[in-house]
Amino acid sequence: MAVAADGRASDGSDKIRMNPSATHTQEAGQRRALITGITGQDGSFLAEFLIHRGYQVHGIVRRASTFNTERLDGIYADPHNQGVKLSLHYGDITDGAGLRRILEQTAPDEIYNLAAQSHVRVSFDQAEYTADAVATGTLRLLEAVRDYISSGRKLRMYQAGSSEMFGAAPPPQNENTPFYPRSPYAVSKVAAHWYAVNYREAYGLHLSNGLLFNHESPRRGETFVTRKITRALTRIKLGLQENLYLGNLEARRDWGFAGDYVEAMWLMLQQPEPDDYVIATGESHSVREFLDVAASHCGLDWRKHVKTDPRYFRPTEVDVLCGDASKARKRFGWTPKVSFSDLVKMMVENDLELAEQERTLTRAGHVVQRGASQR
Ligand code: NAP
Ligand code: GDD
Repeated sequence: MAVAADGRASDGSDKIRMNPSATHTQEAGQRRALITGITGQDGSFLAEFLIHRGYQVHGIVRRASTFNTERLDGIYADPHNQGVKLSLHYGDITDGAGLRRILEQTAPDEIYNLAAQSHVRVSFDQAEYTADAVATGTLRLLEAVRDYISSGRKLRMYQAGSSEMFGAAPPPQNENTPFYPRSPYAVSKVAAHWYAVNYREAYGLHLSNGLLFNHESPRRGETFVTRKITRALTRIKLGLQENLYLGNLEARRDWGFAGDYVEAMWLMLQQPEPDDYVIATGESHSVREFLDVAASHCGLDWRKHVKTDPRYFRPTEVDVLCGDASKARKRFGWTPKVSFSDLVKMMVENDLELAEQERTLTRAGHVVQRGASQR
């Protein structure tokens, strides 16, 4: 079958060549999703979730000098094979022309905008870039979507908002809590949120903002505090490391499991009307409590190993986050499935296995490379 330059089949059927470099075709009636930030923690869980539900998934990947698709290894297949469910496209949320092209090529039914410079501490060092990616990046995508739907085409969009937007507002935080952002990252997410609300109202876009509280997993980036702790304590247990340097241990977060949270993103887009939803467990724990639970799984006394380093403190901190997700529960029955203690256990067990692999290789005389964990 011939394929036109825009990727649509020349006979006008629904068969669409999804990726110019791929040989597979779209199955009739199959839903298509486009994910920005697919290589991140949430992107990888969401891609798995959607493929499992029969979607054809397209993801935007930044060009990097090193491999950045490690989290997708479990679902990636050679694009030359038939029936491939995942297609990756080079793009960047700071490149509007590229976003438009990918939108035309992939013709998604649903877009999930997860791309972000998502590290709060780093956003103080890279404030302009964070605003460009998180706030203006969302605006770029919205502009592309606005033009895309202007010809009558339909799509639904999810915007990845954050509990950081509530910042200094006292807990429990819900959809009616006023935003009080405390970092360039959080301010940028607030801007993205309001861009999204404005485009929903101005252009009738089916767009939902998720106000997601912290969610973690064994795939969490190693510079976020939970993974930094589980990686370090398990390495300490096996004699691969002596100390762990941290900042503020008193901050409290509402930590859930990322796998549960991507389901909520999808559920939002299945509702007849778009809306904004808090997604959270309703439980808040301090960094110190996370250390207690993780260390007890490792059989360690963390006080003997944890040291303070001022560079891990933030110029302005968010002290307590604790979300009230009752709106999502009432509207579409979402509740978290993994408890705090099971989440910590899951992360410790995963990282213990990684540490064991590292120890085996080290003992066999291999040099194991680890990235610099600075934040
Ligand atoms: P993450 O692991 O840091 O992933 C971020 C993703 O964005 C990665 O795929 C990254 O690509 C991509 N990205 C960064 N800059 C980009 C750019 N300029 N152009 C295109 N892609 C870019 O974050 P996450 O934990 O999965 O979070 C997903 C989204 O939810 C983010 O928007 C985050 O701010 C938001 N959020 C997260 C949480 C949470 O607790 N995890 C809570 C609330 C909201 P590389 O792999 O190439 O770096
Ligand atoms: N990263 C880090 N490193 N945080 C530390 C450290 C450290 O060494 N020591 C203490 N903390 C404290 C931070 O000051 C913060 O109060 C808390 O641990 C959690 O920090 P992170 O794990 O970096 O996450 P976050 O809450 O700042 O941001 C994450 O959650 C947001 C949702 O609330 C990110 O995923 C954001 O992208 C997301 O929006």
